Amino acid sequence: MTDRTTDTVLIFDTTLRDGEQSPGCSMNLEEKLQVAAQLEALGVDIIEAGFAIASPGDFEAVSEVSRQCERATVASLARAANADIERAWEAVRHARRPRIHTFIATSPLHMKVKLNKTPEETIAAIERTVALARSLCPDVEWSAEDATRSEPDFLCRAVETAIRAGARTINLPDTVGYATPETYAAMFRDVIARVPNADQAVFSTHCHNDLGLGVANTLAAIAAGARQVESTINGIGERAGNAAIEEIAMAMKVRHDVMPFRTNIVATEITRASRLVSGITGFQVQPNKAIVGANAFAHESGIHQDGMLKDSSTYEIMTPESVGLTKSSLVMGKHSGRAAFRQKLEELGYELGDNAFQDAFARFKELADAKKAIFDEDILALVDDEVLRGHD
Ligand code: KIV
Ligand code: ZN
Repeated sequence: MTDRTTDTVLIFDTTLRDGEQSPGCSMNLEEKLQVAAQLEALGVDIIEAGFAIASPGDFEAVSEVSRQCERATVASLARAANADIERAWEAVRHARRPRIHTFIATSPLHMKVKLNKTPEETIAAIERTVALARSLCPDVEWSAEDATRSEPDFLCRAVETAIRAGARTINLPDTVGYATPETYAAMFRDVIARVPNADQAVFSTHCHNDLGLGVANTLAAIAAGARQVESTINGIGERAGNAAIEEIAMAMKVRHDVMPFRTNIVATEITRASRLVSGITGFQVQPNKAIVGANAFAHESGIHQDGMLKDSSTYEIMTPESVGLTKSSLVMGKHSGRAAFRQKLEELGYELGDNAFQDAFARFKELADAKKAIFDEDILALVDDEVLRGHD
């Protein structure tokens, strides 16, 4: 029986599978093993290591990640086909905690156009393939691809069938990022309430970010009863990506007052994980990206810098240390005020007298108007000049 009142949300990382499906994001075996080690340090509960049947390289990666992982469950993706499921098992059986993750599309569009299957044929395929997976592996997850564009009665029937055949995790993906928080939450509430054997499964979210709603949809589904979240480091993934782990985990931590759930994520490992994935894939993190962007803890405006110098909680809702960064940065620019300029001079080892300080500050403002970015070297040059001028 699954207790949906539990406050623990399992984190299923799919950086190595859905994340790797981002154009240009492929990783070699050594790189995947490095990422998997960091994912374990980060505390994710399940690592989807790849799609074993996709290529010999993917098979090897899933096998090796399975051998390496000490704590996390290791999953391989498999379509609703015997060969896929058997290949997935061959790869994950080395894991201490193996999982087969099998899926089939349930929306009318996908069944007709992509699979050329009737709804009845789809139900039969779910029954057969989930049962096969369960005969090989005690931990089976089933996903209803394109769940958010599926017909609700049919989706409920498909979920009931998968649970009856042995799936113990049911994932309802927003494959094309079409849902809104309200519709996604309503789908979970509806399925959990209507499927008679729903209490035998953990329900899972899997959100794509086509409308930029991946994280919001994920959080809404958790409130509606989901207790597993599928997501990726830095939100990498197909098209506009997947919901980002670091945002989901920190949202639950920082706003525990309104989202009283916990994860096993070790938040201080977030920055390391983000930098590792970005470095390996060459996929740069946008500077204004929440939690892990270069500007996430940077402050330029004079008013903000002044507030930060007095008490960082004036403009920061979490500390940079809490996500594994050493400290916030006051970025020197045309919006910076005297307090930040004085602090920067102190950091650089200067203490100027009043006149020299006012002069240097005026010249810093002129420079900041002319130049997009002000580096420590610019300030050093400016102050050295000031010292040479021989003010007080
Ligand atoms: O987006 C999706 O539907 C998927 C499934 C294969 C789980 O990635
Ligand atoms: Zn996906």
